[in-house]
Amino acid sequence: MHIDYTLKSDRRTEQFVPTEQLIFGKTRTDHMFLMDYDGEQWTNARVVPYGDIAVAPGAVVLHYGQEIFEGCKSFKHEDGEIYGFRWDENAKRLNESAKIMIMPEIDVEIQLEAMHALMDVERLWFPEQDGASMYLRPFMFGTSDSLGVKPSKTYTYCVFLSPSGPYYKAGFSDPIKLLITSRFHRAAPGGSGAAKAGGNYGCSMRSIQFAQKFDASQVLYLDATNQFIEEAGAMNHYHVTKDNEVIIPHFTDTILKSITSCSMLELELEGLTIRQEFIGFQKFMADIQSGHITECGGFGTAAGVSPVGSYILENETTYTVGEGKIGPVTQRLYDTLTGIQKGSIKAPDGWLQKVERKH
Ligand code: PLP
Ligand code: COI
Repeated sequence: MHIDYTLKSDRRTEQFVPTEQLIFGKTRTDHMFLMDYDGEQWTNARVVPYGDIAVAPGAVVLHYGQEIFEGCKSFKHEDGEIYGFRWDENAKRLNESAKIMIMPEIDVEIQLEAMHALMDVERLWFPEQDGASMYLRPFMFGTSDSLGVKPSKTYTYCVFLSPSGPYYKAGFSDPIKLLITSRFHRAAPGGSGAAKAGGNYGCSMRSIQFAQKFDASQVLYLDATNQFIEEAGAMNHYHVTKDNEVIIPHFTDTILKSITSCSMLELELEGLTIRQEFIGFQKFMADIQSGHITECGGFGTAAGVSPVGSYILENETTYTVGEGKIGPVTQRLYDTLTGIQKGSIKAPDGWLQKVERKH
């Protein structure tokens, strides 16, 4: 693919080391990648200064939410080079989301080229403090100026970067609390739950606001029949049993197929079985109470491995998992994932891709 570059002349030339902890998703870098779909093909690939994108007031995305996105990270290794973690999987998932939202797919190779080009241009923005990484946000939206409820003819694909700290303020050190409620659901069969589509997150804001009334960070979503556990907010759920099994819900069309979960499922960790199951909600609660479940948490790109210390019901009953602290298995999963990402543990073949220096 040919990419045009319009680079700022006053590009950052020093390492980006702010003194305070970086907040997840707040900071932007100098440039972004843009590409347009003209109804037939993707054209006009370019890296330009980060800034506003003009869309018509009647653009399909503004009315009917035809938008999909991804979230992935890169890490700086001891050799000073930057490595993308499983970006190819994110690119493939963007195309899966595109199918669900009737949007055009983009060749995985083209998406990877876009991410590499931008990351290369912005390498001096790489955050250096502990626990920080570069978060990439690729996304696509329908731009046709048309009020008919039908797929847009034209689209824009954009990637921008955000030097980021941990998703939850306290980072890995402080297990979070989740609300369990039958009042809100994230997805229903036949809907868009398996897509990383903006609308799924728009409608989750009401449940997040409700969870916060209980001092909880998020909702542990149940399926539409309130029988099975689906998602831990914007993470896949996992729990650990006394028998050293790590259980993740089976992927269905109401669950986002997490690349972090898939990575865990592919790892071989001695003494641990990592597998999937349909997790019955009543049994889950009973197993926490009996002590059969010893640790709980969530997997996700932004959140990494996030321990959950307790669950609260709407009647204020609290279920503490184990002692409510970070358990040894959660610690091991966290250390393994971050070790692989940062290069201190050997990555399975193909998981890390070096960003070549071209700019
Ligand atoms: N589930 C939901 C609803 C999410 O938003 C995310 C975040 O991306 C995940 C799960 C975790 O997926 P991944 O590990 O690919 O980031
Ligand atoms: C991610 O983990 O990358 C996400 O997209 C989660 C969230 C910030 C929406």
